[in-house]
Amino acid sequence: MRTPFPWMPAELNALTDAGLRRGQRAVRPLPSGACEIDGQRLWNFASNDYLGLAADPRLAEAAKVALSEAGVGARASALVTGRTEWHARLEETLARFEGQEAAILFPTGYAANVGTIAALIEDEDVVFCDRLNHASLIDGCRLSGAKLRVFRHSELETLERELQKAGGFRRRLIVTDAVFSMDGDVAPLRELCDLAERFDAELLVDDAHGTGVFGEHGRGVCEHLNVENRVAIRVGTLSKAAGTLGGFVAGPQTLIDWLWNKARPQVFSTALPPAICAAAATAIEIIQDEPELRAKLWRNCEFVRRELARSKIDVWPNSVGPIIPIVLGNPDMVITAQRKLEKRGCLVAAIRPPTVPQGTSRLRISLSAAHDQAALQNLVDALREVVPIP
Ligand SMILES: Cc1ncc(COP(=O)(O)O)c(C=O)c1O
Repeated sequence: MRTPFPWMPAELNALTDAGLRRGQRAVRPLPSGACEIDGQRLWNFASNDYLGLAADPRLAEAAKVALSEAGVGARASALVTGRTEWHARLEETLARFEGQEAAILFPTGYAANVGTIAALIEDEDVVFCDRLNHASLIDGCRLSGAKLRVFRHSELETLERELQKAGGFRRRLIVTDAVFSMDGDVAPLRELCDLAERFDAELLVDDAHGTGVFGEHGRGVCEHLNVENRVAIRVGTLSKAAGTLGGFVAGPQTLIDWLWNKARPQVFSTALPPAICAAAATAIEIIQDEPELRAKLWRNCEFVRRELARSKIDVWPNSVGPIIPIVLGNPDMVITAQRKLEKRGCLVAAIRPPTVPQGTSRLRISLSAAHDQAALQNLVDALREVVPIP
């Protein structure tokens, strides 16, 4: 009998040989930003739980109440019967938090990016995409059918040149991450707003790693750089600092009405579980009401960055905040370093192509307000032993 996909074993072996084969392990979350893998307790420096809210008992309590009232699944897409009062409440909470008229939920941040971009532009349009944008933005651009212009990371001159040539297109959309997830740097949003305004383009910003982390009130990089009123569309996710799941767009009622009608991943997917909505609304309230959590996260970032600088361990130059990349170059070196760090009790992500460009494989550390001083000291000591100093 014919074996389906006969090419697969050889291709998987090629990935193994190149040090690029991905494997998966089961992780047991523990309190204080720790976890257990294969019986070993590790400090988890590879999560996006920036404020430690994923394990916050108040979120669990809110989820329990919704679970007992509404059950587990949403049973249908939001437009059919899946939108419960928990969804409506979360939409209102997000709209209020973002200072906008309305908000719409998506099953994930990925779906929010793909669905929103594809709802805004089509064949006659052009989209400008930073080369290091998250896969969901890139996939949204491709799916939209618009002409795709990829510009070198944060290179405004290249983008300006491309915009100058794009006057013949019906609509122009610029899309960017606010915080680049693998480099930890922040997009030049003010300058991008200037260019969008000059060339009659709209700007879409994915603030996935900014919400809850940046800005005096935790509204993300757009708040931090004071461009909230200049950015046409802000996409957020609830899976990172908010510790739960789901994507969202908050904006003027007309934009939200448009997305309710046109964003296919929202229209054609089952709505988020009500318990997740209840927990996410609680998380947003905590982000709003407890700035001390954010302050603790930033103190943790300052401590680790200062100690690494003291030890002459180079972090990726423009990174700021909780994402700290240490570029080692080749994938094998990164995997070896990751294993050694694990032996010393620290779980750090090993990031390799195609997630990052060839030759820039890296350790990616992400910090959380959940980490205490012992965790941070352990990390710094382990990195001192493991990272080769140039
Ligand atoms: C920049 C960025 N945008 C979007 C997403 C997708 O978010 P979610 O995990 O909620 O699908 C991620 C997650 O990895 C991300 O890093």
